[in-house]
Amino acid sequence: MKRAAQLGHPQQRRRALDFGCGLGRVTRALADRFEECVGVDISEGMVKGARELNRDVQGVSFVVNVATDLSVFADGSFDFVYSNIVLQHVPDRRAIESYIAEFCRVLRPGGLLVFQLPSHIPAIFRLQWRRRLYACLRSLGFSAPFVYRRLHLLPIAMSYVHEDEIKQLLHAGPGRLLEVDTISASGLLNAGLKSCTYFVTR
Ligand SMILES: C[S@@+](CC[C@H](N)C(=O)[O-])C[C@H]1O[C@@H](n2cnc3c(N)ncnc32)[C@H](O)[C@@H]1O
Repeated sequence: MKRAAQLGHPQQRRRALDFGCGLGRVTRALADRFEECVGVDISEGMVKGARELNRDVQGVSFVVNVATDLSVFADGSFDFVYSNIVLQHVPDRRAIESYIAEFCRVLRPGGLLVFQLPSHIPAIFRLQWRRRLYACLRSLGFSAPFVYRRLHLLPIAMSYVHEDEIKQLLHAGPGRLLEVDTISASGLLNAGLKSCTYFVTR
């Protein structure tokens, strides 16, 4: 929110959207700063957990949304739209683009959209052998808890979209890009991985 203040957006603090809210760790933090906060997640289990864990917080609600759009929300209905470590797990490129266009649509003029998405993943990680092996063992009938907990394999996809393509996408819509933060990993295990956080208004 310090960064938001530096950027001069959002200009109002009525409503915030936390897209891919999980158990609502960020949604509840936003509740101190906005009159109303809505957490959205594709997982019914996460939303159920978020509702239980955030019963003590006023002005928060949680919604399950399995669609690749946000048609449950009206145009320009949020002052702040936030999404962190979510779009990278959306396997379909068109769905990622649809969500970003929707973030811009539901953003109120003068609002702030902040979303994170990797811009590059090194070829070695793109193989995603742990995900492929997970799918293979599951199709052979091994149980999900066994494959996940015992073998430490994951079903989760890792996606990325190049920064230039995101800029083009934003340019074509109502959003106005303010800034991009880039983090480049340098460790032995994740060298070459580049993640961007986009700050957008309209
Ligand atoms: C790594 S967690 C991050 C949770 C939260 N943003 C945080 O920082 O604590 C990713 C979350 O994104 C959700 N997610 C994945 N794909 C989604 C989609 N298409 N729409 C909404 N939520 C999604 C998952 O169910 C999960 O709760």
